[in-house]
Amino acid sequence: MQKNRQMIDCKILSNKKILNTEKYFMLELEWKNANKIFLPGQFVEIEISKSLDTILRKPFTVFDATKNSIKIIYKVLGKGTRLLSYQKKADFLNIIGPLGNFYNTKILDAKNDKKENNFQNIFIIGAGTGAANIHFLIKNIINFEQNNNDNYYYYLILGFKSKNDIFCLKEIFELKRRIADLKKVENFQIFITTDDGSFDNGKKGYVTDFFGKFENKLKSEKSLIFMCGPKIVIKKWYEKMLKLNVNNSIENLGDFKNPKIKNKSKDFKKENKVLGLERSAKKFDFRVTESFKMFASFEEYMACGLGVCNGCVIKVKDQKNKEKFKYKKVCECGTIFDLEEILWD
Ligand SMILES: Cc1cc2nc3c(=O)[nH]c(=O)nc-3n(C[C@H](O)[C@H](O)[C@H](O)COP(=O)(O)OP(=O)(O)OC[C@H]3O[C@@H](n4cnc5c(N)ncnc54)[C@H](O)[C@@H]3O)c2cc1C
Ligand code: FES
Repeated sequence: MQKNRQMIDCKILSNKKILNTEKYFMLELEWKNANKIFLPGQFVEIEISKSLDTILRKPFTVFDATKNSIKIIYKVLGKGTRLLSYQKKADFLNIIGPLGNFYNTKILDAKNDKKENNFQNIFIIGAGTGAANIHFLIKNIINFEQNNNDNYYYYLILGFKSKNDIFCLKEIFELKRRIADLKKVENFQIFITTDDGSFDNGKKGYVTDFFGKFENKLKSEKSLIFMCGPKIVIKKWYEKMLKLNVNNSIENLGDFKNPKIKNKSKDFKKENKVLGLERSAKKFDFRVTESFKMFASFEEYMACGLGVCNGCVIKVKDQKNKEKFKYKKVCECGTIFDLEEILWD
């Protein structure tokens, strides 16, 4: 169990709808020294009501943590979130947190281990309510950059259904202002996509549509990728990364048309696509995992959120026996995983 995990009755400082719709709300809860307790990527479990049909606590990412409070942005989906939206300022909610692991931004600290960390680009990608998980991370990285002279290039890619779903626009502008203050504008680029193209300052499409734009960069320079969004979107980006790096290695070897390689890869066809790509990379000893590193947060449906019910398991590779797999609880061992570990369905 996490050392600093607490269960407390938190006073609601505010619970306001955002974007003038009844769809998205920002909940601010009193929590002393939250900025010292919570780390980017962590979540809390909220007890919304004691009635039988909503008795299970609901998990929410910490959107922001300050000296006196935590902020959560939530989308009203079902009964639990609807009831949460009725809660008023000065009411109390019972909360358990912080839960889960966090985005390991220490990896950016070149002073840690120069050899391990020779990343040039940091991609931070959030899709849908997954963008709530990413905001705190970006804020943390800006703090890190304030005291750092390593010239990383950051590409922040956030995707939403439409302009009416960009629940964190105000905060994105605030982050932009802080980046400008840092005088590192050229090191940070922010891209916003909407599925329907309704946001004028953004592009039409999904976050994964941006892959092509960065293909050359991802091919030639080492990148660290942090991501949160629907599982299918995470898988798509990872799959593209693997494919790009396997092809790149084949091209570099000059063996692209070598029939031996083609034949060797046919037994991988039986396997799922991602595993096949990984195995072929390993078999031919392509240093795929050295050309990028990708961590993603999996917001699986959770029941207890505390490692008790096994309701949130995810398949991972058994490192001791490559032929086998095992399950890990997302709430306890995640929500953030190194994608090399995941066994995709
Ligand atoms: C670690 C974690 C962090 C989260 N952070 C946020 C956040 O910051 N903001 C936010 O708006 N939501 C977040 N969620 C999702 C949020 O917990 C659910 O939307 C909420 O529990 C729905 O409760 P409900 O009673 O309103 O709806 P329910 O009646 O429980 O569900 C309504 C619909 O939403 C679907 N649903 C519920 N939970 C999930 C899920 N985890 N993944 C996919 N579909 C789901 C159900 O299948 C159902 O179709 C997070 C989930 C997890 C696991
Ligand atoms: S939700 Fe119960 S073990 Fe993860």
